[in-house]
Amino acid sequence: MAQWVRLCGLGEAPAAGKVMEAEVDGVGICLANVNGKLSALDNVCPHRQGPLGQGWLEGEAVVCPWHSWTFNLKTGLSEYPVHERVDVFAVRVEGEDVLVNLEPEPLEEVEPEAKTSLG
Ligand code: FES
Repeated sequence: MAQWVRLCGLGEAPAAGKVMEAEVDGVGICLANVNGKLSALDNVCPHRQGPLGQGWLEGEAVVCPWHSWTFNLKTGLSEYPVHERVDVFAVRVEGEDVLVNLEPEPLEEVEPEAKTSLG
């Protein structure tokens, strides 16, 4: 069941290359802007509950500011150092509002990173 709610105004959303924290209906959200595209993850890092929205972007991933675990913004999967996952929330812009769907996206099959090993 989709549960779209207003997270913030478009003018409050992070600029390209930036990430921020926001909260709506008691849910902490990490809102990121990669090349003009907004993405939202659960703000709470599964390691020690660090605030992902206070971290920074590396490519299409957000880096936790506390111990640098890195989460892909599309899949929520951690890329380093262990395989963990945070919830991913769909985002859309309507007029001047940024909306998120508080029903997390289902975990999809993720293409494994291209391996260069010749095995
Ligand atoms: S709390 Fe996020 S990496 Fe430790």
